[in-house]
Amino acid sequence: MRLLLIFLCTFCVSACAAPAAEDIAATPPAISRMVAPILTTPDAQDPYTYAQPLVARVTHVSLNLALNFQSKQVLGTATLSIDAKSDADTIVLDSRNLEITGITSVSGQPLPFTIGSQDPVKGAPITVTIGTHRTIQIAYRSAPGAEALQWLNPEQTAGGKHPYLLSQGQPTLNRSWIPTQDSPGIRQTWDAEITAPEPLTVVMSGARESSHSTMEPGHRKFRFTMDKPVAPYLIAIAAGDIVFRELGPRTGVWSEPAMIDRAAAELVDTERMVEAAEKLYGPYRWGRYDVIVLPPSFPYGGMENPVLTFLTPTFIAGDKSLVSLVAHELAHSWSGNLVTNATWADGWLNEGFTSYFENRVMEELYGVRRARQEEALSFADAESAMAEHGLDADITRLRLPPGMDDPDGSAGGIVYDKGATFLRTTERIVGRDRFDAWLRGWFDKHAFQPATSAMLLADMRANLVRGDMALEKQLMLEDWIYGPGWPANVARPDAQAFANIDAAVSAFGKDSAALSPTDWKIWTTAERLRFLNSIARKQRPERLELLDESLSLSATGNNEVLFSWLNLALANRYEPAVPVAEDFLARVGRRKFVLPLFKILWAQGDWGRQIATRIYAKTRSGYHAVTSGSVDAVVMGN
Ligand code: BES
Ligand code: ZN
Repeated sequence: MRLLLIFLCTFCVSACAAPAAEDIAATPPAISRMVAPILTTPDAQDPYTYAQPLVARVTHVSLNLALNFQSKQVLGTATLSIDAKSDADTIVLDSRNLEITGITSVSGQPLPFTIGSQDPVKGAPITVTIGTHRTIQIAYRSAPGAEALQWLNPEQTAGGKHPYLLSQGQPTLNRSWIPTQDSPGIRQTWDAEITAPEPLTVVMSGARESSHSTMEPGHRKFRFTMDKPVAPYLIAIAAGDIVFRELGPRTGVWSEPAMIDRAAAELVDTERMVEAAEKLYGPYRWGRYDVIVLPPSFPYGGMENPVLTFLTPTFIAGDKSLVSLVAHELAHSWSGNLVTNATWADGWLNEGFTSYFENRVMEELYGVRRARQEEALSFADAESAMAEHGLDADITRLRLPPGMDDPDGSAGGIVYDKGATFLRTTERIVGRDRFDAWLRGWFDKHAFQPATSAMLLADMRANLVRGDMALEKQLMLEDWIYGPGWPANVARPDAQAFANIDAAVSAFGKDSAALSPTDWKIWTTAERLRFLNSIARKQRPERLELLDESLSLSATGNNEVLFSWLNLALANRYEPAVPVAEDFLARVGRRKFVLPLFKILWAQGDWGRQIATRIYAKTRSGYHAVTSGSVDAVVMGN
């Protein structure tokens, strides 16, 4: 039934050419698609969009695009359904270097439009005169350098034979390939028909129609739908020579054929993670939970694209030691995708909640000990961010003040780790059962809607504190949400979590002979990271050599351990680490690894600058725009 109705809607919106169709499209269709509200309070206004959603807003996007790997462009049409005030004459959309070839009503009547000047972060507004039209069709192509998209040459893939396309929308990059209102508070349903050259397979962050059709010779068309309103940064695409492997009844993994065995083995617990998450905070509402393991140039560890999490291959260690990444992206199916920060100033509502939730899933699957250790590592990240910025710095506030919001997610220690610590502190004060019941209620009440810090505070008061003034005082909610630094009630991690490692760190500090390679062998990845991140930052070459040789650090197959080692080694200008770093920076495009290593090199004066410049000249073209944009600012001083 639902399928049929969707078909009817799609038919009305995009297929009818007769003028009568316009009338049908203008009146709400028989099944109206789910439309999410727009928040009207000043704290919910997104400074990173040109849209004026209270005048005219997009409710549905219908894409019909072809992928052109030669010109590195997507081209076709976007048909937008619009909700507008009855007297609204224009709609404002976001765009970034799109080449718009025409905008028409559904009946083909050209609509006047203007494109404003380009802002480096926001892109350019498209103002379309819609008159009484409430469905418009935009014919366009993306620029070859569209920031969301990375077009990989065959040599940049594991298989080496076919090109690959991947996208990254969060926070404001999707406007470089989709002309819509690109703001997390303006949710939209969407569907897409994507044509790609054979033998490439296309996947997207929406339900995939099982069959694809062969259109022109050598090309196939793939169809997708997302019938729940999502923030537009969550529309994502990948295309390549990829295969699927089932993991469980509603979970599976895509990757290049060369990676699929290793990927599936690392992800063997995915179905259980979904079950654990549901047990904690209520049903998984998106249907399937699949993941795609992308080529190593993917600029993030993971991205929570609905129904299809995007993952870096760098989390594959062979022992499931880095799968908290998967727990994290899965948790976003509640915190972030279901209840979404209305603006990037409230990014902690996505990332802090998710980091807390991730740790709860890890505890369910792998036990308290591992969860406590990962919690302690996360707390240490928050502590370093506090130390770096100062305890009274504005950037250490969860709700970020205007101008301090950092939509591209580099202020991790605060947004992620202070955010998680707030929830953990609250949980410890009110007790788990009560906390979990409240959190589940928060997800339920705001499902498929945007939220702000003020809404969270009001919800906590109404449903958790419930007028208990002593509890209100104890929780220090406003200090947590709006204040800098650590509130006095902060729940610090269990000092026992790493007691043996901390002892080993101090023993090594006094005497390098205290290092025990046999202990290291039995340590968990979290323990190894704790050790490498905690020993004194200044180390003499002999000690670095001892570490490297006795622990085989340069040869580790664990990319997090390798990254921690390279951090330490390069900060001490340890020559033998340079070729290892060079190899790592050429192999991996994940910004969390790449950017800090270039920063460390750059901080080493002539020695490091010359190395950084040489390596970057070689590696830059392999990075996604997210990574090269950040590294350019360091190495090229842009
Ligand atoms: N949603 C983020 C990635 C992101 C954040 C992209 C902000 C753009 C702007 C994703 O869920 C994430 O947090 N990824 C982390 C992994 C995590 C385990 C901390 C990453 O990529 O490292
Ligand atoms: Zn996240």
